[in-house]
Amino acid sequence: MEAISCIKTRRSIRAFDTDKKVPHELIEEVIEAASFAPSWKNTQVTRYIVLEGEAKEKLAACTNIWAKNGDIMRNAPMVVALTVVEKRSGYERDGSFSTPKGSGWQMFDCGTASEAFCLAAHEKGLGTVILGLYDDNASEVIGVPEGQELVALIPVGFPAESPEAPKRKSVADLVSYRE
Ligand SMILES: Cc1cc2nc3c(=O)[nH]c(=O)nc-3n(C[C@H](O)[C@H](O)[C@H](O)COP(=O)(O)O)c2cc1C
Repeated sequence: MEAISCIKTRRSIRAFDTDKKVPHELIEEVIEAASFAPSWKNTQVTRYIVLEGEAKEKLAACTNIWAKNGDIMRNAPMVVALTVVEKRSGYERDGSFSTPKGSGWQMFDCGTASEAFCLAAHEKGLGTVILGLYDDNASEVIGVPEGQELVALIPVGFPAESPEAPKRKSVADLVSYRE
């Protein structure tokens, strides 16, 4: 798929074909593609924890903050939890921050990886949606390793819907120039 077309036709998918599992080889191809996302000094701090079956059901219960996200996760055959290895991206070797943005760069890096992940999945016929609303206990329920921080949950599956693109702002609203 051509890059601009992939970027523009990717949609957040919240309904999945419940009869079709996502083969592990396929999700690993997506993760391999996402590993080419840019990151701070190529630190590559993003990690992917794949949840299926009982582990996914337990995670879906961690959505008191926004119950609809629980429904999406129950409907999806797989949820991928994106975490970051802490204190590397945006940090100096002595542990001090490299810039005034502090620990913000590790979130930025997980963002670039998330977009690459969703685009690669789209190219391979998989639907995804990034979920930022989950309860505080989600990390514990997933079993996020010590030294990593949970950032986002991404349900993955073969799409059972093809939503219209939500309206985008015009370039004129987005861009400004300086000389
Ligand atoms: C950081 C982030 C958090 C999001 N959290 C949620 C969420 O909790 N639940 C949800 O249904 N969608 C969530 N979304 C998806 C957005 O609603 C969606 O990307 C936006 O409406 C644009 O639609 P599109 O992805 O189809 O272009 C999130 C997206 C991002 C980037």
